[in-house]
Amino acid sequence: MPNPGPSLSRFLIEQQRLPGSTCPAELRLLIETIARACKVINHAISKGALGDVLGSLGSENVQGEVQKKLDVIANDLLLDSNEWGGHLAGMASEEMEAIHLIPNRYPKGEYLLLFDPIDGSSNVDVDLTVGTIFSILLAPEDSAGRDVEERDFLQPGRRQVAAGYAIYGPQTLLVLTVGSGVYEFTLDSEIGSWRLTDGPLTIPAGNREFAINMARRRQWSPAITRFVEDRLQGSEGPLGEDYNMRWTASMVADVHRILKRGGVFLYPADHRAGGRGKLRLLYEANPMAFLIEQAGGAASDGAKRILDAEPIGLHQRIGVILGDKAEVAAASGARS
Ligand code: AHG
Ligand code: MN
Ligand code: MN
Repeated sequence: MPNPGPSLSRFLIEQQRLPGSTCPAELRLLIETIARACKVINHAISKGALGDVLGSLGSENVQGEVQKKLDVIANDLLLDSNEWGGHLAGMASEEMEAIHLIPNRYPKGEYLLLFDPIDGSSNVDVDLTVGTIFSILLAPEDSAGRDVEERDFLQPGRRQVAAGYAIYGPQTLLVLTVGSGVYEFTLDSEIGSWRLTDGPLTIPAGNREFAINMARRRQWSPAITRFVEDRLQGSEGPLGEDYNMRWTASMVADVHRILKRGGVFLYPADHRAGGRGKLRLLYEANPMAFLIEQAGGAASDGAKRILDAEPIGLHQRIGVILGDKAEVAAASGARS
């Protein structure tokens, strides 16, 4: 690949022109709008204390989590950027209890956009990596001519037409799939352009790294406990090889490491919250599962494929095990 590669716009237009393309013009324009919003979010994050964007608001979101200023700033930026373009029938976000309808003064489109405006927001105040996760669905055909409703968003993840994340780390990246591979773009902030820098990504097999919050071990199932215990025993245990552990408390950062370097990420269903996991199906687990599968990996809730889970609520939670196929199988019950 030439360095730097084509811009995001050129890449998507070339995708659009391919025979059997999975990226029609309307989807391309929607993705470009999301990418522009992520540039503005990146700018707000990088201002930090100078922009008065750090700290909490004192409010809670629908999940009962304290909202950081940046959670709300990024949520508003994504709503404002996307509601007037004519590509969307509605939006949903981690930070809003109800769906967001497109105001009547704007034309409506056929897509639904779901997002986690700031993933890993506990990291913001200590200058660690955070991200923005998004998922795009088609509104059901029977919603034509009426306002969309929450039930229209409750589609299994295999129906996503695009998904991706922006990661605000040492570099600012956009990682994207429209269902034909996973591609990485790096923000050239001097000219304000996303340039293709890697892809199609394939998860390297055999990397002996796992990511899990060990503080939750009292709540794990026997299968997860055994999986982690085998790896902790390393060269002295049944696997005969040492493993390494990483946990950034930002799913975007952990998933990005796995896409580039391999390994496995686990936030399993545990005994809290009615036996569900922490992560939300529609705007965290599904988009990441789509990306991981597109890069040759697997994503399971511990028993079945995440992309086949039938949603029952906008903010429902699910166990997440994703990454290297063999590791996901081992953590999902098969003896490693
Ligand atoms: P969010 O900031 O959007 O609520 O997401 C945080 C998530 C995810 O990014 C991360 O993997 C996990 O929560 C971290 O959880 P712990 O606090 O249990 O480490
Ligand atoms: Mn999140
Ligand atoms: Mn969030």
